[in-house]
Amino acid sequence: MNKVILLDKRPVGKPTLSDFKFIEEEMPVIKDGEILLKTLYVSVDPYLRGRMSEAKSYVPPFQLNQPIQSALVAEVLETKNTDFQKGDFVTGGLDWKQFQASTGAGLIKVDAKAASLSAYLGVLGMTGLTAYLGLNNIGKPKAGETIVVSGAAGAVGSIVGQIGKILGCKVIGIAGTDEKVALLKSKFGFDEAINYKTTKDMYAAIKSAAPNGVDIYFDNVGGEISDAVLANINKFGRVAVCGAISLYNSTEIPMGPRVQPILVKNSVLMQGFIISNYADQFPVAIKKLAGWLQEGKITYTETIVNGFDQIPQAFIDLFEGKNEGKMVVKI
Ligand SMILES: NC(=O)c1ccc[n+]([C@@H]2O[C@H](COP(=O)([O-])OP(=O)(O)OC[C@H]3O[C@@H](n4cnc5c(N)ncnc54)[C@H](OP(=O)(O)O)[C@@H]3O)[C@@H](O)[C@H]2O)c1
Repeated sequence: MNKVILLDKRPVGKPTLSDFKFIEEEMPVIKDGEILLKTLYVSVDPYLRGRMSEAKSYVPPFQLNQPIQSALVAEVLETKNTDFQKGDFVTGGLDWKQFQASTGAGLIKVDAKAASLSAYLGVLGMTGLTAYLGLNNIGKPKAGETIVVSGAAGAVGSIVGQIGKILGCKVIGIAGTDEKVALLKSKFGFDEAINYKTTKDMYAAIKSAAPNGVDIYFDNVGGEISDAVLANINKFGRVAVCGAISLYNSTEIPMGPRVQPILVKNSVLMQGFIISNYADQFPVAIKKLAGWLQEGKITYTETIVNGFDQIPQAFIDLFEGKNEGKMVVKI
């Protein structure tokens, strides 16, 4: 039998295990033109929270009683499609199933010798691309500038900071534990790091870490952390709004300081983005990230959770900050 995870209820506030349902179904049998895939690694990502709600967004919501989907790495076990060989490894948006049939549409083959398979869900996948393309297209960093990154010890943030250092910037990270703050400096080369959970006055802490002000803010979290960073923004500053995880579980419309006066007074550019906006730049970006990885100019960390049954809990744990780097479930 094949294990499958469905969305049972739309979460209200923070997701809980009871929002998910485990079922078993017959093993898939492939037809002509299809491949049989065995799931090896599952990416759990904060944006999936948005797809669990009914609200209109840039991707359609998950349907109740249907499998949840995210980026997976899978192995081709059987093939009736000439584009794929048995033993190929692929990545793409697939169902939370142990085994599934696919036409191969939208799947990309990945090379297990070039990098670890899980890296194609992180630094060489969506989160690496988000870091590189969001920072370059919106942040437009110049050597000597100061970048602040929130969610800095996560999958996207840890790569943003390292790219900032490669480009000659001063980089300040914000994260939620002392261990993460230490990791940012020791492993990822951030110049300064701030624990937002133990810092009473975030405005003052950012001001002290960035005495010349903030030129670029790469925002992964939104909310009060971002209010404090924006209050330190420089003239002609750029704000890349990548995510707002602190607000994803809000049940009311979040309120905060109105940012317009800050943007006007400082001629600040603030732009949200979705990584698919930059799909035409993916090949160049992947080449760049893979090159830096090979040269040892960037590194990455992963939190690997074991077992298909652990996928929902790993997803929930993102909202508790239980991951360092990319959260991945190994099946
Ligand atoms: N625009 C796009 O196309 C795009 C693509 C990928 C990701 N994203 C967004 O980028 C952000 C980071 O994604 P990721 O995949 O790299 O996840 P991640 O940072 O690896 O994991 C999420 C992290 O968010 C932090 N967090 C959780 N609740 C928080 C809160 N209330 N306030 C502040 N921080 C909180 C936690 O770290 P702490 O311990 O530091 O709190 C947690 O480890 C998310 O907002 C995601 O939606 C956007």
